[in-house]
Amino acid sequence: MGATVRHLLSAGDLSGEEISFLLDLAAALKRRPQRVLEGRQLALLFEKPSLRTRVSFQVAMRHLGGETIYLAPQEVGLGEREAIKDVSRVLSRYVDIVAVRTWGQEIVEEYAQYSAIPVINALTNEEHPCQALADLLTVREKKGHLKGVSLAFIGDGNNVASSLLVTAASLGMDVRMAAPRGYMPPEPILAEASARAAASGGSLTMVHDPSEAVRGADALYTDVWTSMGQEREAERRRIAFAGYQLNAGLVALAAPGALVMHDLPAHRGEEITDEVMESEQSIIFDQAENRTWAQAAVVAFLLGAAHEVQG
Ligand code: CP
Ligand code: NVA
Repeated sequence: MGATVRHLLSAGDLSGEEISFLLDLAAALKRRPQRVLEGRQLALLFEKPSLRTRVSFQVAMRHLGGETIYLAPQEVGLGEREAIKDVSRVLSRYVDIVAVRTWGQEIVEEYAQYSAIPVINALTNEEHPCQALADLLTVREKKGHLKGVSLAFIGDGNNVASSLLVTAASLGMDVRMAAPRGYMPPEPILAEASARAAASGGSLTMVHDPSEAVRGADALYTDVWTSMGQEREAERRRIAFAGYQLNAGLVALAAPGALVMHDLPAHRGEEITDEVMESEQSIIFDQAENRTWAQAAVVAFLLGAAHEVQG
């Protein structure tokens, strides 16, 4: 068992100070990539498709002097071809760190219990902490700071929303979210985010009306209405989320020049219009780019190499 090994399974695993530290580390590595992980190996154990997460981890490891091994969906069969605890102990003997993209959060938690090496959550149904770090890095680059910046998430209380709420609230942001009834993030996430907002001098406001959430906001964020694995609910969700589209009408209610954000992949014409995605206000592709640097920081931090990075 890897009781003393540090993992990143959930946004709540990081304190506000650690999140700020990781953003500074990511910015330093972006300014000047440094080979602080020479000879280290990262396994990417993925049970769902990916463009950004896979490529950005691979590129990040290259920049740091390390290597990656990619295990595609169908290859390992976590808990199907082989017990989770066996896969975890075997990979611990080969590589230095592992990023796992899977279904339920309980899978990555069980995996980590048996891992002798750090485990990073590369997306579960419940959380996407690497995305949240890249998103905050991007907002900080654009606004110069995060404290007091208002960020409105419009749509599903999914993995992306949950990790974003917890991290943004930890850094004193004015966090708002509008979701239909029945689609808010889970209660423990809301409790964690609001406790962190109270401690950081930020705020958390949960509403059902999107126009209320976006009014005067500095940044607007949305994600798909139907996440991977929910495809059978797509029609029901299209109905529930009608009125939650990030479109020009909603953007007009935000602060002038408000940042438009999406983690991608986007379903253009559903949760966001083409026009808004292509607008000058969109920082969507900057978010995608910053996945590399946020994850470079996470890997360096978990492998104990952060102190070697020169500012
Ligand atoms: N945003 C994100 O995680 O994208 P992928 O699913 O392509 O990795
Ligand atoms: N909420 C989406 C995010 C994809 C990066 C999903 O889980 O499919």
